[in-house]
Amino acid sequence: MDLTTRYLGLELRNPLVAGAGPFNAELDNIKRLEDLGAGAVVLPSIFEEQIEHEQQLMEDLITVGTDSYAEALTYFPSQAAYAVDPVRYLDLIRRATAAVDIPVIGSLNGATDHGWVEYARQIEEAGADAVELNIYFIPSDLDLTGRAVEQRYIDILKTVKAAVRIPVAVKIGPYFSAIGNMARELDKAGADGLVLFNRFYQPDIDLERLALVSDLDLSRPNECRLPLLWLGVLAGRVKASLAASTGVDSAVEVVKYLLAGADVVMTTSALLREGVQHIQSLRDGLEHWLAARGIHSLAAIRGCMSHRNIPDPMAFERANYIRILQGYGRK
Ligand SMILES: Cc1cc2nc3c(=O)[nH]c(=O)nc-3n(C[C@H](O)[C@H](O)[C@H](O)COP(=O)(O)O)c2cc1C
Repeated sequence: MDLTTRYLGLELRNPLVAGAGPFNAELDNIKRLEDLGAGAVVLPSIFEEQIEHEQQLMEDLITVGTDSYAEALTYFPSQAAYAVDPVRYLDLIRRATAAVDIPVIGSLNGATDHGWVEYARQIEEAGADAVELNIYFIPSDLDLTGRAVEQRYIDILKTVKAAVRIPVAVKIGPYFSAIGNMARELDKAGADGLVLFNRFYQPDIDLERLALVSDLDLSRPNECRLPLLWLGVLAGRVKASLAASTGVDSAVEVVKYLLAGADVVMTTSALLREGVQHIQSLRDGLEHWLAARGIHSLAAIRGCMSHRNIPDPMAFERANYIRILQGYGRK
């Protein structure tokens, strides 16, 4: 069975990618994911705030004339608040790329195109095969226009692209008024891949304590419908590779995403819920689905249910919505 796929110009043995998440901060888990059949791994993000914190430390050290950087770091306990600091992050990349043959993708998470994006170059120098840029930004400033928000994404991408030669994927959320056009603009600005979608933090309210609840629900399979729609619309219409992210629980979602046109399928919540060994059941389930239909290659199904390839592309659009609403309850 040929499950190979291309993502960001890289050849992957299969499309199952362990998405950015805490388990990928452990070298042992990365090695296990390779053994269990993952096609690639994305490391958890290093955050703009962490990098700027580190840069501030460096400046402070220069100002006070301390020449022992490592020793002086211990004077700043706030650094310990982050799981992996920028120095250890680069070390993780070095150790991971030395230990496994599958692509290791570093992840940068930020909201501005300031100096921190230079860190992308260090990710490259540490040996990462690619970098995923998670632009996480809630435009709560009411003066900010949609156009300005979009431009910010483009500017961050261009700054990172100018800093590195390795491929750059952009992970975005679904909250743009015209996702198709945004995707094309990112494509034109040099994105090698688009990851659809990030899940934005959404606070809840605790009615007993009258306090905001800032926890994180793991995703559920029904959340795959929104990425499925946009992957289907974009497949074959942008140069960038397409990664599906959100709601992959079983091989069912994996197959759907591939049919819609994803080049790779990422999973994080399911690995947290079921353990890293779940990647193996996703891979086996995909192989089984293909074999049961006498299909010997992933390429034969990828994108065959996309907007471009289905006989009635309106099924992706408004006409179908009207049919569904009016037909609800009728069989
Ligand atoms: C506990 C947890 C930690 C995460 N950490 C990161 C991260 O560091 N960087 C990132 O880009 N996405 C992060 N994500 C988002 C996931 O990579 C993924 O995009 C999202 O959870 C949707 O995929 P899923 O439905 O398979 O979980 C995290 C998600 C979870 C649940």
